Amino acid sequence: MVAATERGSISIRKVSRVFQNNEGADLTALSGVNLKIKAGEFVTLIGPSGCGKSTLLRLIAGLDQPTSGTVSLDGEVINGTHYSRGLVFQDPTLFPWKNVWDNVASGLDARGILKQQKHEVDAYIDLVGLKGFENVYPHMLSGGMAQRAALARALVNHPKVLLLDEPLGALDAFTRMNLQDEILRIWRERGTTMVLVTHDIDEAIYLSDRVIVMTPRPAEIKEIVNIHLLKPRIRNSKQFFQYRLEILEILQLVPEKI
Ligand SMILES: Nc1ncnc2c1ncn2[C@@H]1O[C@H](COP(=O)(O)OP(=O)(O)O)[C@@H](O)[C@H]1O
Ligand SMILES: [Mg+2]
Repeated sequence: MVAATERGSISIRKVSRVFQNNEGADLTALSGVNLKIKAGEFVTLIGPSGCGKSTLLRLIAGLDQPTSGTVSLDGEVINGTHYSRGLVFQDPTLFPWKNVWDNVASGLDARGILKQQKHEVDAYIDLVGLKGFENVYPHMLSGGMAQRAALARALVNHPKVLLLDEPLGALDAFTRMNLQDEILRIWRERGTTMVLVTHDIDEAIYLSDRVIVMTPRPAEIKEIVNIHLLKPRIRNSKQFFQYRLEILEILQLVPEKI
């Protein structure tokens, strides 16, 4: 069993991010985004490709800075990366020369606290279901197992917030559903604030307390859908289908006459 963590609330205030394209012209990725995420909440960002979802996640991670506005965690403005905000991408980005144990341990090692925290590495490897694979190198792992290792590597730092950028996007449907259950279990056990980016509407409904639907670029929040269903959710229930239809309609992906 792993220890509970301190929770994290996120406040995004009037955030815009303007990039320069190749010709030097302004490209507005985010425009005046306001969003408050409660500590321990599971929130999903969904929206057209290229609208600015990863940009928003990178701002919360502290990998990038807003052009205007602020992003704060528990009242403190974010101005750089920190282990309290863990990141998992679609590509697991494991160190190919390190085995699973060393990959999961890498954050603690970099912070100089590995010696005291070795048991934590074992606990998180166990938590994500990789017990017995400690000595295996990334090239020997399936996509799902590599993503489990990436999850453990982020979680071992006891992040207040876990930022998930299409983490299951490259996996087959069965592995994806398995890992959705894993993420749900970890969320329940740890109480970590979760911010997920996905293109998969069912995944969003299955996991989230709120689904944030973004507009095409420049991304603004189009609508927020509260999912009032107990977890774990039944993927083929009538209510689940109703939420799916609602989100498809907001995304204008439903023909006018059906
Ligand atoms: N570093 C960057 N420099 C220039 N343009 C960028 C940069 N990062 C993202 N963009 C642009 O910002 C827009 C939003 O990108 P992104 O947040 O990755 O979209 P999403 O994750 O929703 O698919 C895209 O048009 C993308 O090309
Ligand atoms: Mg993206």
